This record gives sequence, C-alpha cells and structure tokens, in this order.
Amino acid sequence: MKILFVCLGNICRSPTAEGVFRKLVHDSGLRDRFVIDSAGTGGWHCGDLPDKRMRAAAKRRGYELDSIARQVDLTDFEKFDHIIAMDESNFEDLVALAPPQHRSKIALLRDWDDARDDPDVPDPYYGGPEGFETVLDIVERSCRRLLEQLA
Ligand code: 4NP
Repeated sequence: MKILFVCLGNICRSPTAEGVFRKLVHDSGLRDRFVIDSAGTGGWHCGDLPDKRMRAAAKRRGYELDSIARQVDLTDFEKFDHIIAMDESNFEDLVALAPPQHRSKIALLRDWDDARDDPDVPDPYYGGPEGFETVLDIVERSCRRLLEQLA
C-alpha cells in the first residue's frame, strides 16, 4: 500500500504526517506492507529538510523528520494508492492537477480525526510554537485511525 501525504511547502505538516505514520507502521510490524512519502503542492522549498521548529517539536515526541522536500508531480497520481491532503486548499489543488481516473485517491487527513473541529491541519509556518504542537496532536490522532483502517 502506497501512501503520499501532501501539504503546501512539504516542510511542516506533510513531513510530520510521513514521519508519524512511518513510526506507527514500524511499531506495528507492518513495515513491509507500506510505502510512505510526502510532497508539496508548491516547489519553493524543494531540496530542504523540514522546518527546524517542526523537527524539534517532532523530536520531543520521538519522531525523526528527515525527508527532503519535493513538489507533487503527475506520476504521483499513478504511483500512490492514497494521496492525503493536509488542508482543503491542498485538496483542491490536487483534484485540479489529478488525471480524472485518479481523483478518488485524494482525501483529507482530518477525515480520520475523531476530534475534528475543522477540515484543515492549520499551517504552522507563520505562527508561534503552539502551532507545531497542534499539528502533531492532529497528525497523531488522524494517523492512528488511518492505519487502523488501512491495516
Ligand atoms: P507546510 O507549511 O505546507 O506545512 O510545509 C508551509 C511551509 C512554507 C510555506 C508555506 C507553508 N511557505 O510559504 O514558504
């Protein structure tokens, strides 16, 4: 099963979802069954590690975020089984880009959030440190349910 997490810059939210989901998969002994990756709808940060503040917050919860940012491309829609957007803007950009036969692969991460009060994982990039904790809280809750459903 191939899963791609997508946000805007691929340096905060989607690398976090990638790292959290990967750890859950490894800890569940399901490593051989999944390919996990992340990408951004925008390309400004291509080649960068995740944002330092995001990496530090994730590390405090036991996640190493070390993916290198890249932009979504058309081959991703062929290659992945599930393409999971962090917010509605990412979702709409993906739907606009996807070949029609692959549009049904696109979902919103918070569709798996039991405590969903908003469709979006809020973008933490321009805010304070609490934004990075909020991203982790939402991503941890949603990824647990997502894995339960897929496994
Ligand atoms: P992300 O956060 O989409 O969660 O990676 C952002 C990172 C960078 C920018 C926007 C959002 N930016 O505009 O550079």
